Amino acid sequence: MIHFPEGFTWGTATSAYQIEGAWNEEGKGPSIWDTFTHTPGKIARDENGDVACDHVHRYREDVALLRELGVDAYRFSTSWPRVQPEGRGRSNPAGLDFYDRLVDAVLEAGVRPWLCLYHWDLPQALQDRGGWTARDTAERFADYAELMAERFRDRVADWMMLNEPNAAALLGYLLGVHAPGISDLDAYTASAHHLNLAGGLAAQRVRARVPEARIGTILNLEPVVAAEPGAQHREAAELLDAVRNGNHLEPLLRARYPERTAGMMQAHVRDGDMAAIATPLDRLGLNLYGRQRVAFDPGSLVGLRLADPPAQAEVTAMGWEVAPRALYEQLMALARDADAPVVTVTENGAAFHDRPAPDGSVDDAERVSFLGRHLEQVAQAIRDGARVDGYFVWSLLDNFEWAEGFEKRFGIVRVEPGTLARTPKRSFHWFREVVRTGGFDPQQLP
Ligand code: FCB
Repeated sequence: MIHFPEGFTWGTATSAYQIEGAWNEEGKGPSIWDTFTHTPGKIARDENGDVACDHVHRYREDVALLRELGVDAYRFSTSWPRVQPEGRGRSNPAGLDFYDRLVDAVLEAGVRPWLCLYHWDLPQALQDRGGWTARDTAERFADYAELMAERFRDRVADWMMLNEPNAAALLGYLLGVHAPGISDLDAYTASAHHLNLAGGLAAQRVRARVPEARIGTILNLEPVVAAEPGAQHREAAELLDAVRNGNHLEPLLRARYPERTAGMMQAHVRDGDMAAIATPLDRLGLNLYGRQRVAFDPGSLVGLRLADPPAQAEVTAMGWEVAPRALYEQLMALARDADAPVVTVTENGAAFHDRPAPDGSVDDAERVSFLGRHLEQVAQAIRDGARVDGYFVWSLLDNFEWAEGFEKRFGIVRVEPGTLARTPKRSFHWFREVVRTGGFDPQQLP
């Protein structure tokens, strides 16, 4: 049997744009994801999050699922343009009221709300002024953070600043496959730095308003390995590691950029920035899905390309390599880092080709196996000295998976296309037992 320590936080996670819908209701302003998804050709099958899981109207049902699941905590994000339609100045009372109702319902269900301030849905009005390439966006984010802290300080103790600033900068401003769809090296470095700065400034403002808050931010760190032997490929792996991991972890923990990237980041750094970014945090959120393979590629913009998993590798419906050991390795790397705070696994999970029975039920044995094998690695890391205080499954619901649309299903609850009816999958029932008993028997995994 595997047992997790007393006080370990069990949770599930979602994000605003992926589940809420109600994209233009009750005073909400458009976000960059509204604009991006409404642009033909950007998203698989041209799908969008206009309705998504209709969570804004069905949140009571979703909170009832959380209660049934028995988790300690629910990680969700607030939509900045629902709260501040232009991303600055005037706030939207109806938007704030929605999050009031949600937070109250979550608390009433006996679940702690973990509020994440930014999960990629930047107000379009700020994008029109440069988005994350503009330094001012970091300042506006800090204002929004303070507004939220003021409103929810009496009910929310766990605050997350940013979800995966590395993905927001890389996918949104360098590869152009996520909103706002820009592909430019200078836009990438500027946005990576301004996202870092935004996180630090926001942490200061939340701390000032909610002194007893537990404040963190979330990175998706993944071990990077060279896909092929040879010095050029090894160097490509080191460069990608510095960009996707180091560019956000190093400033956070040590107020500096990695040696390999410092040159290109420097242009955006002003006096005081690095100290602000390194504002001490109570925890680091880690999102991890697998391992990153990379190869040298002289023909690409940055001299490397992301490589596919080896032919014999087990992969998810996303094509991502199933690599539970990567979670152990990443947790141990953080454990060896004297500057790292306590770590919470804020996302881990998988999309599989679920096959629902006629009654909508789903026997997702693959997901149970995936979650179980990753939790085994978390338990091993804890035994080996890692300070890990919780684990959140991505995701509570099947939802809008960004550029992939709805086809990629990560939920432990099925959301039926069309009717949006919710049906807990086998993984939901399995996870409920893990939460209830604080562990599981790895021999029993499918
Ligand atoms: C993470 C995102 C989350 C979800 C999962 C699959 O990178 O934070 O919104 O899309 O991947």
